[in-house]
Amino acid sequence: MANRKPEADGKAHIKLVVNGEPTEVAFAAHKTLLEVLREDLNLTGTKHGCELGECGTCAVLLDDQPVLSCLVLGIACEGREVQTVEGMADGPDLHPLQTTFADLGAAQCGYCTPGFLLTAQALLERNANPTREEIKDALAGNLCRCTGYIKIYEAVELAAARMRGEQAEPSHESIYGRR
Ligand code: FES
Ligand code: FES
Repeated sequence: MANRKPEADGKAHIKLVVNGEPTEVAFAAHKTLLEVLREDLNLTGTKHGCELGECGTCAVLLDDQPVLSCLVLGIACEGREVQTVEGMADGPDLHPLQTTFADLGAAQCGYCTPGFLLTAQALLERNANPTREEIKDALAGNLCRCTGYIKIYEAVELAAARMRGEQAEPSHESIYGRR
């Protein structure tokens, strides 16, 4: 991996893989990965929040690791793999996390949801059966201002169970009960 210098047109040109697709993109060299995704690749599922590394709404996966895309320069992504929320579904089939977030009402306005989904995906890829505490730790950098966190934790637990092949259904309480 080498950072690319701006070329004669003043733009950085890089090749990377975005959601499994080899991609070339040119952009103003000062841009963050968040800006490149949203403004140059039209992948607006990644949300723009604090731009200070404090809210987690811009989280994406960079080489399978969650990163805050507002803190990563686009030119640092030469040759790397980026996954955004647009890459979570498999064709028409939603990722189990997307399904359980919908089943349990784990999103309200949805602004924070892409960051939660991708951070949770990375967790479940390294730990198929996380405890509630491990889920809390993994999602500690993601803020939600309207759903409350309990439903989000329950959705991650339900997705993990389904991904392990268990016949897991949401409890009545987790759908209608407390937050
Ligand atoms: S927009 Fe990146 S952490 Fe808030
Ligand atoms: S669902 Fe609105 S901020 Fe989380």
